Amino acid sequence: MTNIKFDTSALRNFVNENELNEIKPMLNTARDELLDGTGVESKMRQWMTLPKDYDREEFSRIKTAAKKIKANSKYLIVIGIGGSYLGAKMALDFLHDNFYESLSADQREYPHVIFAGNSISGSYVKDLIKLIGDKDFSVNVISKSGTTTEPSIAFRIFRKLLIDKYGKSEANSRIYVTTDANNGALRQEVSENGYESFVIPDGIGGRYSVLSAVGLLPIAVSGADIDELMQGAAEAQENYSNSSLEDNSALQYAAYRNILYRKGYTNEILENYEPNLRFLAEWWKQLAGETEGKDNKGIYPSSANFSTDLHSLGQYIQQGMRNLMETVVKIDHPKSDVDIPIIGNNNDGIQYLEGKSMNYVNDKAFQSVIIAHTNGGVPNMIINLKDQSEYSLGTLIYFFEFAIAVSGYLNGINPFNQPGVEDYKQNMFALLGKPGYENLKNKIENDNN
Ligand code: PA5
Repeated sequence: MTNIKFDTSALRNFVNENELNEIKPMLNTARDELLDGTGVESKMRQWMTLPKDYDREEFSRIKTAAKKIKANSKYLIVIGIGGSYLGAKMALDFLHDNFYESLSADQREYPHVIFAGNSISGSYVKDLIKLIGDKDFSVNVISKSGTTTEPSIAFRIFRKLLIDKYGKSEANSRIYVTTDANNGALRQEVSENGYESFVIPDGIGGRYSVLSAVGLLPIAVSGADIDELMQGAAEAQENYSNSSLEDNSALQYAAYRNILYRKGYTNEILENYEPNLRFLAEWWKQLAGETEGKDNKGIYPSSANFSTDLHSLGQYIQQGMRNLMETVVKIDHPKSDVDIPIIGNNNDGIQYLEGKSMNYVNDKAFQSVIIAHTNGGVPNMIINLKDQSEYSLGTLIYFFEFAIAVSGYLNGINPFNQPGVEDYKQNMFALLGKPGYENLKNKIENDNN
């Protein structure tokens, strides 16, 4: 694998050779369970072969839909929550300029892609309606179950807005549905209204779905190259499925974070030095948190954005409770750079940096933090990623999906379910008075009296 390098040099004082040898047999068993399908819920492993084995006809329809949206819309409103939005949001931020969404119409070639239905904030929706104003827009509603409350509410609102603006027939042609092939409320809507639709395959859970139509349509609408994205993931599939620990950086990451976890480093912070990687961590937190946090076990996934958060969380990381480990995603070749101007005086105290580039300073910050934090007792792992291209993102997505799924089997849990997500949903249905939830409502009321 050429564009990801996993660097364990900052683990010298935290993990020894014996510990690696000790975990190796268990790691190999977990890897085999994943690869051979002998682990629990093995039917949910379709994401593993997706980069090479995807529906070419649907892929081409995604590109056609993206062209149509580009031609007739200033905005694409992407409605979804959890795995039905985080991957696309992560990809758009990762691949484009930091201020991509703020570029005006004459500065941009592609529609704005704005996310909705990922909270229940009335203010957010009101502000978004104001932003759209009288501009042309389309909607991509994404929900595997088709029954999740947040996207259902948002879809109802934006569908009504489309119908009020364009009339039913044109509104229907501006709605793109990504959902289960056969079941759920959204599939029913597709049959009734003839919406263009895409499939979330049965064997792919929300948090593993970014390389399906869930992520691909919004990513294509933003102007990014989805062929390159799939090719990067396909290379990763080839590499990580066919190599042993020594040559497999995804397995190494799984191994080291689990050795550390077993030694009491129960909280992993995913970090970056580029602001447009912030949502990479949000996506990863869902992937890791929902995959591993079960049966009273699991590494707690958290994130920090550097150097920004060195001025807030930095104190805690340096000297707080010693249950932290850090994983830095470091971009080898950032997208661009700016030199620090030569002004001929030292009034601001940074004359010694004149003529140096900001990326140079950022690199030194990164090196300094590794030294400080490891000296302070926090183990650091480094994922060096070549650049912020579609190809590299494809490899990185697969790297994390593979490593986290192996971690799940290694810890003896089901990596592909999320029973805990249901608990709050049931209570909310009861408190909102949804038919069928009367008993639960009574129970909640009695318990709280
Ligand atoms: O990973 C998961 O399965 C969940 O987080 C879902 O992505 C999330 O709850 C949204 O579900 P749905 O796509 O059914 O609306």
